[in-house]
Amino acid sequence: MTASDTHTTQLAVPDGTRTAGGGGPAAWSPDSWSPDSWRGRPAAQQPDWPDPEELRGVENTLALRPPLVLPEEILDLRRSLAQVAAGEGFLLQAGDCAERFGSCTEAGVRGKLRVILQVAILLTYGSGLPVVKVGRIAGQFGKPRSRPTETVDGVELPAFRGDIVNRPEFTAEARRPDAGRLLSAYHHASAALNVLRALTLGGYADLGQVHDWNQEFVRRSAAGQRYETAADDITRALRFMAACGVDTRSQAALHQVQLYTSHEALLPQYEQALIRYDEKRRGWFDTSAHMLWIGDRTRRLDGAHVELLAGVGNPVGVKVGPSTGAADLRELCERLDPDRAPGRLVLISRLGAGRGGELLPPLLRAVRDAGHTPVWACDPMHGNTFVSESGYKTRRLSDITTEVAEFFAVHREAGLHPGGIHLELTGDDVTECLGGDLDEVLDTHLASRYETACDPRLNAAQSIELAFRVAEFLREQRSVA
Ligand code: PEP
Ligand code: CO
Repeated sequence: MTASDTHTTQLAVPDGTRTAGGGGPAAWSPDSWSPDSWRGRPAAQQPDWPDPEELRGVENTLALRPPLVLPEEILDLRRSLAQVAAGEGFLLQAGDCAERFGSCTEAGVRGKLRVILQVAILLTYGSGLPVVKVGRIAGQFGKPRSRPTETVDGVELPAFRGDIVNRPEFTAEARRPDAGRLLSAYHHASAALNVLRALTLGGYADLGQVHDWNQEFVRRSAAGQRYETAADDITRALRFMAACGVDTRSQAALHQVQLYTSHEALLPQYEQALIRYDEKRRGWFDTSAHMLWIGDRTRRLDGAHVELLAGVGNPVGVKVGPSTGAADLRELCERLDPDRAPGRLVLISRLGAGRGGELLPPLLRAVRDAGHTPVWACDPMHGNTFVSESGYKTRRLSDITTEVAEFFAVHREAGLHPGGIHLELTGDDVTECLGGDLDEVLDTHLASRYETACDPRLNAAQSIELAFRVAEFLREQRSVA
């Protein structure tokens, strides 16, 4: 790529005073889009930045930084997702709920990559479908919150909104939104991405290492044992191919993986500062990650987040919660995917166990009848969160599995491809979600290793157990298709 392919276009970030005629949001048209056209539209879930001047300075600095990902990689992901939308692949989007700056270490990134590789290989092996891997990684630093403030012992402070905004300690100083953290987020994302690229291109992701990805604590679980058996089969298959004369050493696909990055595009100032115009492709790309998504709390049609992502060429995800109406969803799809381009849209349903059978079919129909071919993915995490008796925010592995099963059943009924899953997981031996066959996590265990910065994640053993179930669902689906 030459320097002129992608150039920096916002050396000075506009002052944000652009508002629509009459004070309301402007009517949308592709011609009126620009990287700053989100300004003046309602933006939900924003910190109250105490120093707008400082924020502007940070935006200007960020706009001069190199892109974190390149348009050609973004377009590769779009092509892979188009294949998924056509039923010829499966999307695995997974990682932390909220990454911490402190976990952007080699060990932290390696741990997450390891469990993603394990889940992906089980899905590939079990279904025979290529799995497109997208991490909630290298930039998932911001969090939407149910309440803007938190009160402890009568003291009310701003909520912790993720490391990109403030710090979790319950002091006024720590909770004060700090624009400098946007810059810090960029540098941590960049460091994480650097080690991720090295690990995925170097020997760590090599299929020959499939046994080494399994950690000691996971081996103790039934799922971990089953993983060992699958890994034996894969190793034998590789030896078989080599014995047949296939030069397995020269096959890059066996030695490297492509792990794309993604995060919720929650803070429009940060995203705008990383949007670049690509001369060659005559289009705008958000170079903060390969894929961005809009959360269930920020998907308002006339809102800033939808406006921001409407004009960039990245694949765009939209979380689809239980309050999403079919007509609203159709309008969102029209706005974000007016060209009906396969690979552009990923609709991520997060309805809660027991609700998919009723809520999902009309949504699938509405989107299909309007001519869109999105990847439909299932996030079985966010509709199944509750506070346990011991006071921890948690999820049951059984509810998670049920929601995925319902997602598959509804797709089968509709004759559509269940395109993917979206998970919050970690490679660590945490006790945040209930259930699982390894020392079944009970409510009384949650306190022992509850480490998440936000939502409860599946530990590696629970993730592998779920991966086997999803692989079974996929296999069944393919046998009836
Ligand atoms: C998330 O993905 O972490 C999240 C907050 O999801 P949702 O917008 O679906 O609630
Ligand atoms: Co979450």
